[in-house]
Amino acid sequence: MGAELNGLRGQLLATVREQGGAVDALVADALRNVPRHIFLPDLPPDAAYRDEAIVTKWDADGMPTSSSSQPTIMAIMLDQLGATRGQRVLEIGAGTGFNAGLLAHIVGPKGSVVSIDLDPEIVDRAEENLSAAGCDRVTVLHTDGALGHPPRAPYDRIIATVGVWDLAPAWHEQLAPDGRLVVPLDLRGVQRSVCFERVDDYWTSRSARACGFMRMRGQFAGPERNHLLDKQTHLTLSLPEARELDTAAVVEALDAPEVEIRTGVAPTQSEFFDGFGLWLAIREPRWFSLSEQDPGTRLGSAPMRAPDAVVTAGVLDEFGLATLSVGSAGELVVTGAERIAEELAEHVVAWDEAGRPGSTGLRIDAHPAGSDATGEYVIDKKCVRLVLTWP
Ligand SMILES: C[S@@+](CC[C@H](N)C(=O)[O-])C[C@H]1O[C@@H](n2cnc3c(N)ncnc32)[C@H](O)[C@@H]1O
Repeated sequence: MGAELNGLRGQLLATVREQGGAVDALVADALRNVPRHIFLPDLPPDAAYRDEAIVTKWDADGMPTSSSSQPTIMAIMLDQLGATRGQRVLEIGAGTGFNAGLLAHIVGPKGSVVSIDLDPEIVDRAEENLSAAGCDRVTVLHTDGALGHPPRAPYDRIIATVGVWDLAPAWHEQLAPDGRLVVPLDLRGVQRSVCFERVDDYWTSRSARACGFMRMRGQFAGPERNHLLDKQTHLTLSLPEARELDTAAVVEALDAPEVEIRTGVAPTQSEFFDGFGLWLAIREPRWFSLSEQDPGTRLGSAPMRAPDAVVTAGVLDEFGLATLSVGSAGELVVTGAERIAEELAEHVVAWDEAGRPGSTGLRIDAHPAGSDATGEYVIDKKCVRLVLTWP
């Protein structure tokens, strides 16, 4: 069994590396050694070593509230974090404890890891998993991640493994002056895993990578809203801000589109996810994303296929909605109500004509709220003003 598990871990690491993760040797070594199957005790070991996110808890409405994230994005974020031996790390979102176990392996016996979660049951499970895996250098605590954990500050590295809408002042206060913060940050409904470092009184990004995490709950929860449209297929519509939604009318509109418009634009999946999603989110206040459990019933030809879900984007107002799917030869096709479908098709063409910009070279500065800093795009949160610029 030991050799078999080593083989599964080796295969997972190879997959993660093919996708651009675990570039840092310490991250690769952690993935090779920390046993993910111990953190997912309800799964057969081979399923635990697939490069997939595994949901471990749902709320009463069937929305996921905890999971073990997809190993590739975990590795990419750990690469961004760049933690080294002997460092002190704070993680927000303990979940199964697996990422905390990886962090403990990375910082080694002279380092330390504090991992916090809002859900006391999750904290207990993470503690059990970490102890079963022999990771004894992690302290798991039940508290709101927005508060951090002052008694063990300063931290050399802070990482959130839950989607954050804003940057909590506690993270600023508890990070060492030359420390790094890595968070899945909301940019009007899409997320980028952003590695921030401090410059004077503001943060500047060193890298930004596409990602999609469940959202932070508690006192720092953002205004984004998920609407479950079909419990059977987990068809879920996500809006960047709380808005009334007639879910029955949305399903009806999805099932009976008025028009179909071919855009002539055929992006790769990563161009779509990393590029068009962000383009639409920052330019189109009426945008939404729509996801369904793989392989998709209504979204069977969605432009984005993650291992466990299919995802598309669309635009919605009081007069109707339009969404994107993939037609022959990978071309993006818009279906929906006529006027709004034309507007969505115009966004696709404009993004294509602009050279399909994505996160490459994207810089995000986070200034204190109230700052008059400006750039190509400005997004105001409660605690920070985000300024986005491309080269
Ligand atoms: C994607 S899971 C984290 C995955 C985890 N790092 C792992 O390796 O399994 C996100 C976690 O964030 C937690 N969470 C949500 N809001 C939080 C908050 N305000 N403070 C701390 N944890 C929070 C959830 O309970 C959930 O367990």
